[in-house]
Order: sequence, then C-alpha cells, then structure tokens
Amino acid sequence: MTNKPWLDSTLPVENRVALLMEAMTTDEKIAQMVQISYSIVTPDEADEWARKGAGSFLHILGNNSRRIQRLATETRLGIPVIFGIDAIHGHAIHNGATVFPSQLALACSWNPELAEKMGEVTAREVAAEGLHWAFSPVFCLARDLRWGRVDETFGEDPFLAGKLGCAVVRGYQGDNPADDERIIACAKHYIAYGESTGGRDSYDSSVSMRTVRDIFLPPFAEAARAGCLTFMAGYEPIDRVPCSAHKKLLRDVLKDELGFSGFVVTDWSNLTSLIERHHLADNYEDGSRIAIEAGNDMIMTSPEFYEATRALIEKTAVDPTLIDDAVARILRVKFIAGLFDVPSKVKTLTLESDPDAKAAEAVFNCEAHQKINYESALASMVLLKNDEVGGKPALPVRGPAASGVPSVLPDGNARVVKTIAVIGPNADSVRAQFGDWTFFTHPVPHLDAIPELHVTTMLEGLQEAAAEQGVRVLYDKGCDIFDPAEETIGRACRLAKKADAVFVCVGDTLVQTGETHDRADLALSGAQDTLVEALSAVCAKRKTPLVSILVNGKPLEFERVVGASDAVFETFNSGTLGGRAAADILFGKAAPQGRLPVSFPRTTGQLPVYYNQIPGWHEGSYFDCESTPLFAFGEGITYTWFEYSDLRLSASTVSPEDTVQVSVTVTNTGACAATETVQLYATDHVASIVTPVRELKGFTKVHLERGETKTVTIDLPVESLAIVTPDEKRVVEPGTFSIQVGHDSRPDSLLSTVLTVQ
Ligand code: BGC
Repeated sequence: MTNKPWLDSTLPVENRVALLMEAMTTDEKIAQMVQISYSIVTPDEADEWARKGAGSFLHILGNNSRRIQRLATETRLGIPVIFGIDAIHGHAIHNGATVFPSQLALACSWNPELAEKMGEVTAREVAAEGLHWAFSPVFCLARDLRWGRVDETFGEDPFLAGKLGCAVVRGYQGDNPADDERIIACAKHYIAYGESTGGRDSYDSSVSMRTVRDIFLPPFAEAARAGCLTFMAGYEPIDRVPCSAHKKLLRDVLKDELGFSGFVVTDWSNLTSLIERHHLADNYEDGSRIAIEAGNDMIMTSPEFYEATRALIEKTAVDPTLIDDAVARILRVKFIAGLFDVPSKVKTLTLESDPDAKAAEAVFNCEAHQKINYESALASMVLLKNDEVGGKPALPVRGPAASGVPSVLPDGNARVVKTIAVIGPNADSVRAQFGDWTFFTHPVPHLDAIPELHVTTMLEGLQEAAAEQGVRVLYDKGCDIFDPAEETIGRACRLAKKADAVFVCVGDTLVQTGETHDRADLALSGAQDTLVEALSAVCAKRKTPLVSILVNGKPLEFERVVGASDAVFETFNSGTLGGRAAADILFGKAAPQGRLPVSFPRTTGQLPVYYNQIPGWHEGSYFDCESTPLFAFGEGITYTWFEYSDLRLSASTVSPEDTVQVSVTVTNTGACAATETVQLYATDHVASIVTPVRELKGFTKVHLERGETKTVTIDLPVESLAIVTPDEKRVVEPGTFSIQVGHDSRPDSLLSTVLTVQ
C-alpha cells in the first residue's frame, strides 16, 4: 500500500487520481488513452498491449479478458483494464445471455421504470462476465428512417429518448457504479449521428449548432446531468467538422458548459478517419494532436495513437496538460467503477480455476432476468389496427378450451377460433426477431451461430398459446424475405382456407438493418406484399380475420400490408421472449400497451415524417403523397377505448422559472382493463424563430379498469418551453403557448388549452 498510496480507498477519488498520476511515466499515461479491440489483433499483440498498459479493451469475453486483466495487474503500477462491450439490448454478444427487445422496441413501452430494469439486468450480466462498461444507451434520434441504425435508437423524439436513455444509465450505474452488479454507461453517439445526410451512416450531418443545441443536445445534456460517466464521439462530421475534431462540442459544450467530468471515447477508428477519410491530417501525429486538442480522451482502435503521441510530447508539439486531463478522466472513472477496490471487478483467474465463475455465470438469462425480459417484450408491442370482421374486432382470439386461461376481456367478447394459420418469412426467424448487435453479428458476423438459450419465435409463441386453449396451428413460410414466390404463396393460401384466423409475419431480416445496412428503399422486400394481399383475398371471402405481425428492425413501407389486413401488430426486434409476449396479447391474456416512438412513412420518398415538423408554405407535403404519415408518433391502440376530458392548468399565467401542473381526466370506456400513455405536447404561438408544430413535453402512464375514471397530472417546467436562438442561447420567450394533452401526436387526438408566459 505504501508504495501505491492511491490504493487507499478512504481517500477521495480526486486525491487517488492525483497520487496515481504522480507515479506514472508519460508512456504509461499515453497507454491509458489507448483502447484495443480484441477482435482485430492477434492474442500475442493483445498481450503486448496489456503489458504496455493499454487502458481499455473492447469486444473481449471469457478467458481472454481474464488473461488480459491478469497481465495488466502485473504491470509496474497494476492499473486494471476497463473492458467495454456493445451491450445494446442486453449482453447479447455473449451467446447465452439475455437478449432484450431492441432499443426502438423498448421505446414503444414509453416506460422509464422498465428501461431502468432492463439496464439493471444487462449490468448484472455484463459484470458477471468481468466487463465494466456498456457502449450504450444510444441517444441518437431516428429522423431519417433509411438510416441503418434506427433500431438502436429510442425513436425520433429528444424528450422521450432523454427520459428512456437516462433510465438505462441509472439501471447500469445505480447510485454507486462500484457495486458488484453495476457497470459504466456510455452516451452515444455524440452528436446528431442519426441526422447524417440521406440516412447514409457517418455521412456529413449538415446541421447548424443552433439545431444541435435545440434538437440533439437535450438528451445528451440530460445524460451528463444524470451522471453518465462516458460519452462516445460520433463518426460523422457536423457541418464538415468531424465529431472527434469538434473542440467546441467536446470541450466547450460537453466538458465546460455541461460540466461532464467523465471521459470521451472515440468511435471505432475515428482517429484513422481523420487521416484516411476526412483528410484533416495526413499523418498520425497531426491526427492525434487534433483528436487530443478537440477533447477525445480514449482512442478506440487506432493504436498508432500511442507512438504518434509519444513523438508529439517529445517534440513538445502537444500541450502535456491535455494528456494529463484525459488520463485523469479515465482514471477517475476507473476509481468510481471500483476497479481498484472491488475484487470481483478485476477477474484474473481462468473460468476453470475461478471458484466464483460458475455462480457468476448462473445469472445469464436466469429466470428473474427472463421475467423482466418478458415484461419488456410485452410492453414493447404496438397494436396499430384492429378492425371488425363479422361484427367483432379481429383481435384478440380465444380457443374453444380456454376456460381457466386468464383473459383481459370478459367471457364471450373474444373471437373464438379452432384453427389458426401462421404464415410468413418472419414467423419462425430467430435472426429477424433478434435484430442487430447479438452474437449473430458481433464482434464478427456469425449468422450460423446456434443460440445457447431458448428463443420463442412468433410461431412457437402462437403454438404454445394455442395448445393451452385447444387451438390447432397450421404453418407455412409463405415466401422468403427476398425471393419471388408464386408457388409458395399459393400453398400458403390453401392453408389459410382451413383456418379461422390467419397470422402473417412480415418485415425485414438482419442484413436489411443495422450499422452499414442503410436502405435507399424501405419497400417490403421479395413477395411479402403479394403474400399479404393474396391471404387478404382468401380471408375476405371466408370472413376470417387477417392479422399482420410485423417483425422488423425499423419502420418500413407498410401501406399495402395495412390496407390488406384487418389487424396490424408491430413487434420490431423483440428478443428471446418476443413470441411468447406477442401470443399472450393476440390471445387476449394481456392488453396491448405499446405506443410508437417513431412515425411511419407511407413511402420512402415521403421522409422525413417525424411529428415535430416545421410549419411553412405548402405545408411541406408532396403532390403525389398524402401529407400525413401512415402512423404517427405516439399512436397505438388496445382492446378498449379511452376518453379525455377536463384539461386544466394549475396556473394559466406563469413565469419562466415556474412549473405548471397539467391535469386531465381519463376514462376507460371499453371492454377491458388497460394502460393508457397520456402525452403532453406544447406549441409556441408566436416566437422569434420558426418553431415546430408541436413538441412532446411530458407523458405518464395510467392503468384503468373497465369503466374507471382517473385524473392524471403531469408537471410542465416552463423552462422546457425555451427556444434556441440563432446565437445559440436557450430562452423562454414571453407569450402564449397551446398546451395539448391526449392519446397521440395527431391534432385530433389532443385536448388543448392556453398558457401565458410573462
Ligand atoms: C459503432 C459503435 C460501437 C463501436 C464498437 C462502432 O462501429 O458505431 O456504436 O460501440 O463500433 O463496437
């Protein structure tokens, strides 16, 4: 201890950081800033980097991480490595760990408590692996749906993304990130990455600093305030300045203005991109200097940084206090994460020789975690259409032997079916149901991996529910995601003729979504539209319902599917238990409660369709397309109806520093108990710049029994009505605002009243 005084855990973190820094050589400091990807180096190279004192590794699992950690602790100062992993919807790169619904799916829950629980489970599983740091949550906004990474976001709205993302940060870090079962969060990708022109990943985001501060900064600022300990700099330039070269955004805004005291990691090879793609430098010394000066603290996968920075220091070509600041930030996070104090965080024994390894691994996808995963899947699914067929809504269905099986509808209200047909390319597809960022795709694509955990596909879920209620299930794939399929469609139609209800699962598959998989055209691929329309013709003749179950990474062109179907049920990438959750809703054991966190276009050319549009001449609509989206932000129905009345404000004239209580009465007027998501929007009547038609400012959930009425109240801080001026100031301008509350973002769904700000 005496020659390593920083190990004294009774000292304040800042003192410990200072003591350790005093003991470090310049080379040791620079090495802390290096992050190595285990997936692209040889084991020998990795070991060499550990001996050199590399601060971090990513994409490393099992015994490899344990070996690297042992080598790190055997170095002169023994500074532990911080291991990062892309746990984006669960620790899903580890085959056998819980695979949650994607972020976009989870966002449909509009439920921060659930997002926090998902974060807790993920943290427990990542920590059990001996890793410390998840590269999530993703705070990017999905406003151009051609972008491949829409599935990774919490949707299109900054307010919703901020609330859900910060809940995940809490779930990961808890009150004390040093706790055994907590990990470090990473807010990414800072900033406006989803806004890359044309939805082309990493392409220039041609947005002004005003827009950055107005639309993209708020969720990240909330993450910084919530104590998120790391941020990742995006790949793309913001109006021609690459994020990793953006001193104003990294240093001035994030670190100085927002007081962020954690560290910034670059995205994958951002430093190399400064040289090879963006041409801000033509050698690693200049590139490294730019990256250091801009405020990147840890450099992911450009190990050339190490020698280049040694040379810069040698030549006094970079300010050494900038290196000190970066290293202090990294060490601060390592101390806060408990890496110097909590033995279970620094796993150095092999799995075989570690007596605690078995117990730690037992948490992967354990029963308690599956329970939360099931809850997440259930809350993530959105019923978008449910028309009547033969005098009864298409959904839910119920079997002839269902007595004793719980139902949300009173007996006699559900449609009874004896035989169902399950059809479609995504009915039995684990890969499509999982989406991106699992062991199928990362750290290297491994599409033929065999899942080491039970997955309930849509087909299996429907089979389970059907078996419980005495219903026969017929299955046919109908068509492939890509190929034309006249013959197989004919076969599927013949099957549909034998069924009392038809469930068709369409959408996309892994290669059509995710990083580097942007799409120019969001039309349903292959013969899927044709399949649904052919089944629709069969069902219409027989007066049986056709239910489309959407299994997709992100919104696609679903206009034909919606037109042809009696019911439409969106499940996105719902994880291991998606099939069970879907079947429980379709068979009426649970009521749908999800709401869209993103608007659906009618056609790709209609993009962008986000709800918070800017008003103007000609209403921004196209001659050859309706002006409304196919489905709007916030939409989603259930097996009952809600009526809103009596919208009230606690005060109708207020000052900028006040908070208004907005109350509304909600009544469940339909046939079953269900949960409503009450949404609060505001519109500025007159402002010094053009403001959006409406913006989400609050939401809450309320559970109502049949016939029940409740009054709900949502706090509205007047400060949240601020605009960002062209000179980048946030100001609340005096004047009137309409405050709107209701079921979704469409004007007809909202009650409205006026608030005056003095
Ligand atoms: C992605 C990041 C990810 C990183 C490490 C990059 O390609 O943009 O989101 O965390 O790789 O895997």
